[in-house]
Amino acid sequence: MKIFKSAFLSAAALIFALCTISCGREVPKATDSSSASIADTTAESTEAASDVSTEAETTAEPTTTTAAKLSGVTLSYTEAEICVGQTLTYPMVYDSIEAEWSSSDESIATVDSVGNITGKSEGKCIISVADKNVPDKGAEVYVTVKKDTGIKEINGITYINGIMIANKSYSLPESYNPGGLTPETDAAFKELVAGAANDGISIYLSSGFRSYDLQSQIYNNYVNAYGQATADTFSARPGFSEHQTGMAIDVNIVDDNFIGTPEAIWIENHCSEYGFILRYPFGKQDVTGYKYEPWHIRYIGKEAAEAFIKEADRRDDVNLTLEEYLDIDSHY
Ligand code: DAL
Ligand code: ZN
Repeated sequence: MKIFKSAFLSAAALIFALCTISCGREVPKATDSSSASIADTTAESTEAASDVSTEAETTAEPTTTTAAKLSGVTLSYTEAEICVGQTLTYPMVYDSIEAEWSSSDESIATVDSVGNITGKSEGKCIISVADKNVPDKGAEVYVTVKKDTGIKEINGITYINGIMIANKSYSLPESYNPGGLTPETDAAFKELVAGAANDGISIYLSSGFRSYDLQSQIYNNYVNAYGQATADTFSARPGFSEHQTGMAIDVNIVDDNFIGTPEAIWIENHCSEYGFILRYPFGKQDVTGYKYEPWHIRYIGKEAAEAFIKEADRRDDVNLTLEEYLDIDSHY
């Protein structure tokens, strides 16, 4: 028998699914338990109901009820927006009932026996919790499922389409330390060096993996020398550097003297063949947050780098940035 009690659920509702998937507004909109009762038919739930109705009429999606069929039970939230594939932790039930959860449309969202809601396909549906022992007693959650944005946050690290992100908007935890270049990055860089050598170009590693602490020292030295505003144009704050991913490499001369050299031109033209992209291209300081760095390459894998270059061609932009490609920000 599943008797849900508020004391237990207050603590338990803070436990989220294994990973959090950002999806615009990924959390329930209504979390004010004092006003979340469906029975009260708040303005919010009425609005949600009419939204569902409008959507159903205009898109001929599976219909959902426009008025709550269940009442007398208070939930911690009565609206939720989730992505396809995302599981949202159940709403707290502030009444002792023998709960039975169901979905108005399992093709859109399913609900498990304790109320965890999983998005299945784009659309809207209603997740209900009913008291098995009392007819019409229960509550409803209006759920909107959006398409998967590809953004996943795992252990404080953001991945977009499988690419670990480190920029001014997406930081890495201080504790994240792969201990060096990742094996894939290391192997790909060796291939790149060999490929360049075949073309008579000498490429060497100047700076690879940098721990949080090392980046902290480097950044603080620059801040002391040039002031923070200037330092921020070419040096990442600790926790925000791609070098901490173990997938970024500065090659050859790490200053403006590298610009326009045969080595820089080779890197720009060929690094993607080895799974790298130029991370801070010319003229994109407003997008990446950093000045042009022809020496800083980032390993994203051969397949992803090929797709990236195809997209750059499609946009006719040889200076496409990862931020533009993934449609993300980079600012403190
Ligand atoms: N120079 C790049 C932005 C870094 O410090 O990671
Ligand atoms: Zn760098």
